[in-house]
Amino acid sequence: MKIPLLDLKAQLDTIRDEIMAAVTATVDSSCYIMGPQIEQFEKNVAAYCRTQAAVGVSSGTDALLASLMALGVGRDDLVLTTPYTFFATMGSILRVGAQPVFVDIDPVTYNIDPDKVAALLSDSSLAAKLKAILPVHLFGQCADMAPLLKMAADLDIPVVEDAAQAIGAVYPMKVEGALEWHKAGSMGRCGCFSFFPSKNLGGMGDGGMIVTNSEKFAADLRIIRVHGDISKYDHSVVGGNFRLDAIQAAVLNVKLQHLHKWHAARRQNATLYNALFKEAGLVEGGYVATPEAVYQEQAVAGDDVDYHIYNQYVIRVKNRNALRDYLLEQSIGVAVYYPIPLHKQKCISGLKASRVCLPEAEKAAEETLALPIYPELTSEMQEFLVERIRAFYKK
Ligand SMILES: Cc1ncc(COP(=O)(O)O)c(C=O)c1O
Repeated sequence: MKIPLLDLKAQLDTIRDEIMAAVTATVDSSCYIMGPQIEQFEKNVAAYCRTQAAVGVSSGTDALLASLMALGVGRDDLVLTTPYTFFATMGSILRVGAQPVFVDIDPVTYNIDPDKVAALLSDSSLAAKLKAILPVHLFGQCADMAPLLKMAADLDIPVVEDAAQAIGAVYPMKVEGALEWHKAGSMGRCGCFSFFPSKNLGGMGDGGMIVTNSEKFAADLRIIRVHGDISKYDHSVVGGNFRLDAIQAAVLNVKLQHLHKWHAARRQNATLYNALFKEAGLVEGGYVATPEAVYQEQAVAGDDVDYHIYNQYVIRVKNRNALRDYLLEQSIGVAVYYPIPLHKQKCISGLKASRVCLPEAEKAAEETLALPIYPELTSEMQEFLVERIRAFYKK
């Protein structure tokens, strides 16, 4: 049985007519740059994320870059972040001339570890140079935001959430004793999303969005995304061409309406994998550690809460590379996110940020493997896949 890592055609088949109607209407409108599709999508995303504003941009990378530009982060400033994420998180920091400061991850969630952040911030000369904290909500589960927000507030610096993989994921916060679920991207100064096709809300090309509760920040971003243009050919700052494409917005406006259902299907697939790995004796045997949805417990039974949106379902395994090759040879799509942590990347080998020891990120880079988790994946496929993994370990 062939099992792809992601099957975009299977998803398209369920919404083809809606998508084609939206694309055709946009094509017929001749309005390809900005315009009503973008405005509508920004409104829809702001409502979905429960934020004051949303600003469409050209990609998740540009969402991060424009946010750091709007915050005035620049040469020799420090930005605290995780070493275990996609390159764009670090790339955007370096592109504004700042330096990343890496803090190791929690081995269970793979997200930045707030205790290790606190330990690092006890160095007051480092804390003084810090201009932002940039946590990533990796694989679709929020980083532990409450302590990060508190530490950032104490330092009076902003938190920029890299929520590229986590649109719609929620984080439990106690507000005046009551539990509130806060959406990824809505907790810091801003949140950055990617609509790369493999994301839970994926376009048919590149796209991104920044959400924020500050109208002033949104206004600054709207200027930065059009070369700093405040009125025609009058440039107040140096920005970029960071516009979201109107056809992408049309596609995404359709897909957003299906997102909650797709998140739920991914969660259901994750629950089935967890059970299958247990049944196969792979968890007890120490061959496979399944991912933990750490906020699940706070979601009372029956609550329809997106505590994890499983953009990726990532297991930790023994003998990872051999297992990956074994599955790929059998046309089972698996992938390693990420084989080289950011502090080990060649392009920063001369920087101070590379001279750190981050054992949890390094271990995760050697041991993790992402399995297919897309909503249309069938239970037969999942059973087959787990059986193949069982056969690998218990030959
Ligand atoms: C964590 C993270 N940050 C940033 C990005 C960049 O997004 P994009 O590919 O839309 O530029 C991605 C996307 O792959 C990502 O996964």
